[in-house]
Amino acid sequence: MDYCAQDIAEVLVSSEQISQRISQLAEQIIADYRDKELIIVGILTGSFVFLADLLRKLDLPCVVDFIAADSYGTDTTSAGQIHIEKDLSMAVEGRDVLIVEDIIDTGLTLSRLVPMLRDRGAASVKTCCLLDKPSRRQVTVQLDYVGFQIPDQFVVGYGLDFAHHYRNLPQVVVLKPESYATVPDPQ
Ligand code: PRP
Repeated sequence: MDYCAQDIAEVLVSSEQISQRISQLAEQIIADYRDKELIIVGILTGSFVFLADLLRKLDLPCVVDFIAADSYGTDTTSAGQIHIEKDLSMAVEGRDVLIVEDIIDTGLTLSRLVPMLRDRGAASVKTCCLLDKPSRRQVTVQLDYVGFQIPDQFVVGYGLDFAHHYRNLPQVVVLKPESYATVPDPQ
C-alpha cells in the first residue's frame, strides 16, 4: 500500500506467502475435521483478516463467532486472570472449537481461553494462528495449526496493529522505528 510505504522497514511475510500457507492450513483442517461441524472462534481484534481468508478456504460445515478478551497479570501457574470484553454469542457445549488467532506471543491469552472453553463443555478445542513468536513464550500452549514462526520483532499488517493502525496492510511487516512516533493514537 502506497499510503504508508515510507513507514515499512521490511516485509516479513508477503501476501503471496500468506495465501499459499493458508491453503495448506485449510487442507490440514479439512482433513482433520472431516464429518464434523466446526465452530470457529476468532479472537478480536487482530484475527479478523486471517480468519476471513482462512474461512473461505474451509470446504466443510462451520459457523463463526468472535470473542474479545484481555488477559492480565503474569501468573502463569493458575488459570490466570482473563477479562471477557465481548463474549461468544453461541454455546460451545458439545461442539468442536477451532480458535483462530493472528499471533501467539506470551501465550497467556490462549492459555486462559482454552480452559475456559473446555470448562463450558466444548467437545474439543484446537488452535490455529498465523504467526507464532516462540521466543516470547511465558507459558506453554498447544498450537495445532501454525502459519509461520517469526523472530522477536514487532510486526504489523494483515490484522496486526500499532495503535490500531496498519491492520489493513495485505502483508506482515516490520515498521521503521521513526514511524511509531508519527502514528496518531485514536484512543
Ligand atoms: C494480540 C493477539 C492475541 C494476543 C496474543 O492481541 O491478537 O490475541 O495479543 O498475545 P499473548 O500470546 O501474549 O497473549 P492484542 O492484545 O494486541 O489485541 P488486538 O488483537 O485487538 O490488536
